[in-house]
Amino acid sequence: MKSFEEAKARLESAGQSHVLRFWSELSAEQRVTFLEELSQLDPEELSRHCRTAVEAASLQSSDGERLDAHMEPVPPEFIGSVRKSDQQTLKEWEDEGFLQIAQSKVAVLLLAGGQGTRLGVPYPKGMYNVGLPSGKTLYQIQAERIRKVQELSSVKYDSQCTVPWYIMTSEFTLEPTEKFFKENNYFGLEPSDVVMFEQRMIPAVGFDSKIMLEKKNKLALAPDGNGGLYRALVDNKILEDMERRGVQFIHVYCVDNILVKMADPVFIGFCVKNGADCGAKVVEKAYPAEPVGVVCRVDGVYQVVEYSELKPELAEQRHPGGELVYSAGNICNHFFTRDFLSNVAHTFEGKLKQHVAIKKVPFVDEEGNLVKPTKPNGIKMEKFVFDVFQFSKKFVAFEVVREDEFSPLKNADGAPVDTPTTVRRSLSAQHYRWAVQAGAHFLDADGNPITTKHRTAQDMVPPALCEISPLVSYFGEGLDMLKQKNLKSPFFLNEKNVMSLVEHS
Ligand code: UTP
Repeated sequence: MKSFEEAKARLESAGQSHVLRFWSELSAEQRVTFLEELSQLDPEELSRHCRTAVEAASLQSSDGERLDAHMEPVPPEFIGSVRKSDQQTLKEWEDEGFLQIAQSKVAVLLLAGGQGTRLGVPYPKGMYNVGLPSGKTLYQIQAERIRKVQELSSVKYDSQCTVPWYIMTSEFTLEPTEKFFKENNYFGLEPSDVVMFEQRMIPAVGFDSKIMLEKKNKLALAPDGNGGLYRALVDNKILEDMERRGVQFIHVYCVDNILVKMADPVFIGFCVKNGADCGAKVVEKAYPAEPVGVVCRVDGVYQVVEYSELKPELAEQRHPGGELVYSAGNICNHFFTRDFLSNVAHTFEGKLKQHVAIKKVPFVDEEGNLVKPTKPNGIKMEKFVFDVFQFSKKFVAFEVVREDEFSPLKNADGAPVDTPTTVRRSLSAQHYRWAVQAGAHFLDADGNPITTKHRTAQDMVPPALCEISPLVSYFGEGLDMLKQKNLKSPFFLNEKNVMSLVEHS
């Protein structure tokens, strides 16, 4: 559909012809791009979308009652735990994970199509420099972890291997992300092993069931949520690409978690050894009202119940030992087999729940003025990546230690949690622990020993500023060169200065 008449007819049948109201004012070029955009809309799908959005917005939060009576925690036999497992078991999982990686059967898939509105920078969140001594961005940290996990697996099993990196982007993030990777030589990865693809965008809908214009020749569109992954896999033939490469297991994660363990061998190994087709990493909830979703069962079916849906009485329920009953906090870190992804993408995608967000959507009014609303005025529909647990034949949860695995960047500095400062501290605290475990001592700027007495892992500010490049250590291994060393804070260990420390060991 590239003609005006065709576009008009299709929009009329969907009850949305108002978006052509400024047609006579558009230049020839603007008309071409607008028609291109409109050609993506299917009239039936569009009217269904508008209807569902308004209905869903009016029904919002009526799920609470239903959930309460039918919820139960994940049964213990389906949860693995780093904290509660012995070293031998953890080692077995890790070996299995490394083996699968060494055979090039594991890929990582990054969800990076979000708009990052809370952080508020005008570029993709992965390009954010969180202020570490190295100045590395989230994308660089993640790329280097892939390089390291490939290297560790290759050395362990004496075979060259590749962990392909699939990156789901959106209209907002594709171009700048591609450019950034090119400018940085893909951070040392093979460019053909970094596969970027785009998720769909869908129109924001007003409370009157009408889609909105962001400009006179542009619809107000938003990405279809991180659950848009499943459609995007089909649209972009990503499953075929995975099959061609022999990928069987996929580790899916969010861009903002600075501690993410790319293709974590322990998690992969745990899931593979348990024959799971779908797995979720979880962390113990910090406190009952913590705003994270809870992995649990509802009517025997696995799902994530959002914190807003969980009544305080349930959130506060505890086992006799004091642990929260609903403690499995979802951190958007998943394991899928390729077969499972294919099944979901081809068979179940249409059954995924539509989540509603009522947002402030800037729009062009009837007179053609751009309005920045002060109150929410539009409905955005999103699908969530975790809504597929219900289709799993063998679901497992894997509880990991928060301090080692989860610290997301959501907000700008000034907010109380999940800011550049808090993620920087989390990383530094972890690397400080690794160095101390390896036998290092830290000194302050005046050369006095930094004492860690009375500190706990939960302390917000790490005793010393410490950064260890992922190219040197993936999860704290291989740091023997730090034994008995006095390290001055801030300390940054990278693949260049590591040699001088080795020589002086
Ligand atoms: P968030 O829900 O934190 O959203 O996304 P966001 O867009 O990053 O930030 P806000 O809410 O606008 O401040 C969690 C993860 O899901 C991805 C994000 O990129 C992030 O990795 N995501 C989100 C997508 O890939 N696509 C989407 O449509 C939405």
